[in-house]
Amino acid sequence: MTGRPPGRPQQRPVTLLPVLLEGKKLLITGVLTDRSIAFAAARSAQEHGAEVLLTGFGKGLSLTRRIARRLPQEPDVLEMDVNEPAQVDAVAGAVRERWGTLDGVLHAIAYAPPDALGGNFLNTPWDSVRVAFQTSAYSLKALVAPLVDLLAPGGSVVSLDFDARVAWPIYDWMGVSKAALEAVTRYLARDLGPHGIRVNTVGAGPIRTIAARGIPGFDELAGPWARRAPLGWDGDPGPVADTIVFLFSDLSRAVTGELIHVDGGFHAMGTEPPATRGESPPEG
Ligand SMILES: NC(=O)c1ccc[n+]([C@@H]2O[C@H](COP(=O)([O-])OP(=O)(O)OC[C@H]3O[C@@H](n4cnc5c(N)ncnc54)[C@H](O)[C@@H]3O)[C@@H](O)[C@H]2O)c1
Repeated sequence: MTGRPPGRPQQRPVTLLPVLLEGKKLLITGVLTDRSIAFAAARSAQEHGAEVLLTGFGKGLSLTRRIARRLPQEPDVLEMDVNEPAQVDAVAGAVRERWGTLDGVLHAIAYAPPDALGGNFLNTPWDSVRVAFQTSAYSLKALVAPLVDLLAPGGSVVSLDFDARVAWPIYDWMGVSKAALEAVTRYLARDLGPHGIRVNTVGAGPIRTIAARGIPGFDELAGPWARRAPLGWDGDPGPVADTIVFLFSDLSRAVTGELIHVDGGFHAMGTEPPATRGESPPEG
């Protein structure tokens, strides 16, 4: 017994939340629209105290510049095609000049040509496979290598995965590229760990972004998600962004080489449950 009068709610002690990313300088790729997972990550990172620099790609660059204005603090946007080493080097040079050091990098980049997706697995030509692999998997190494000297001990590299431990309908060579991205994550974790740098990937559930729209029959992937995921799934990028913030923060200082699922628990279920969602949990 606490001696509290019955029925009066206990006062919660006032605790100040630490500003998780205070003073951290982050390079964030992959903001194209305000539905981009990277946009949600940039917003959440700024809300947690980080300083952010964005990169934009090709024809989307002007869109990225426009969307950047919708963030809590408008960040600068640098041009970068991750497949052009000179542009990645230029970004590394700009980061060095501006900050001299870097605490985190978000790789939110993927692309596969149309004939590498959609159920054409047996017929996809190597040229299309190569583009998918280079842009969606090799690019993690291509982005990080020129930044290694800038990344401070405690630095964190995060990428975005669609769980590639299994085969999916439609996802084809993007699925194979994501499996490679998971492997690149582990090898970078091996090589950068001794420098105090962590490398992890976040396996997000399906979210309707421009990249998702490029996957013909995306609904076949996304449809069953809300039913199978024990927590449900509404395609909000917010929870994915918050996990990225955790991975940028010192709270995750002993986590590296990891695939963290942010998918409502879909990955852990063998099949869909009987139609019980919405009913009260069993008593007892
Ligand atoms: N949307 C989903 O359902 C989902 C689920 C799991 C993982 N992901 C992954 O999240 C990441 C971000 O995608 P998104 O869904 O936010 O879509 P998005 O379309 O908003 O972002 C994709 C980004 O990739 C960039 N990009 C493509 N080619 C590039 C290149 N050569 N150089 C530099 N940038 C390039 C585009 O400019 C764009 O900003 C991707 O890796 C994607 O595979 C998405």
